[in-house]
This record gives sequence, C-alpha cells and structure tokens, in this order.
Amino acid sequence: MNTKIVSGVVLSLGFFGSLAAAGQAVAPLSERGKQTFMRVGCYMCHGTTGQNNNDAAKALTPNTLPPEAIAYFIRVTPGRMPVYPKEVLSDTEIADIVEFLKTVPPPPSADSIDILKNLEPLK
Ligand code: HEC
Repeated sequence: MNTKIVSGVVLSLGFFGSLAAAGQAVAPLSERGKQTFMRVGCYMCHGTTGQNNNDAAKALTPNTLPPEAIAYFIRVTPGRMPVYPKEVLSDTEIADIVEFLKTVPPPPSADSIDILKNLEPLK
C-alpha cells in the first residue's frame, strides 16, 4: 500500500480522535477527587473542604500530607477512622482525592474575622 496514503489515514485518525476527546467533558482530577471525597463519605468527618479539625477528625488541608502518607493511612488506619480497602476506594481514586485536597485554599485567618478579633484566650 502507498505509504503516503497510510500515513495520511493514520494522521487523520489521530486528528479526529483528538477532536472526539476534546468534545468529551473530561473532569479534572481535582473535580473527580472532590466527587469521590463526597461519595465515600470523607466529608462527613473531615468537612466538605477537608478542614474540620475537631472531635470528628483531623484537618487534611491546608497542609496536605504527602500522597503516599495519605494513601497508606487510608488503608491501615488503626484509630477511629474506617479503613477503606481497594474494593471501596482504588489507588487512582485516592490520588484524585489528594489532587482535590491540594486545590483547597487556606481558610481566612481568625484575625481577619471581626467577631473573632477581640476574643479573650480560652482558659
Ligand atoms: C468516621 C469519620 C471519618 C471518615 C468517614 C474519614 N475519616 Fe479520615 N480521619 C478521621 C479521624 C477521627 C482521624 C484522626 C486519626 C484517628 O483518630 O484515627 C482521621 C485522619 C485522617 C488522615 C490522617 C491525618 C493526619 O494528619 O494524621 C487522613 C489522611 C484521612 N483521615 C483521610 C481521609 C479520607 C481521604 C477519607 C475518605 C476516603 C476519610 N479520611 C474518611 C475520621 C474519618
């Protein structure tokens, strides 16, 4: 077969293939991570932005742990947090969650919130 025709066919397949991919709404990893964070219930203890730092859980943002530490913790957590096995949450889904956590902006400082400015320290 003529090599020019073959390469032309291959090129146009690639071209139309990429058009098809561009047409599909591919959610960014962080958006997928957010959806997973909600779907498997992380938000119930950690808050919808991972910022809960109270009796329910530890804050996961703004100082997000290294991805390996988060992945490890989720699989073997010995404390009050439920263990999430691979059947429930894949490694890819954990990686997506980490991407989501990295996008959460830090909360405003207490000094910038009027009602909190002049509080006496707790004794
Ligand atoms: C039932 C409540 C609950 C749910 C649901 C939950 N966690 Fe936790 N998580 C905790 C608590 C409580 C801790 C603090 C450590 C402990 O007591 O085990 C924690 C700690 C963590 C830590 C370690 C933080 C640190 O700085 O040591 C990570 C990471 C984490 N959770 C991620 C997640 C993710 C991701 C999900 C969803 C897949 C999730 N958690 C779901 C309660 C929960």
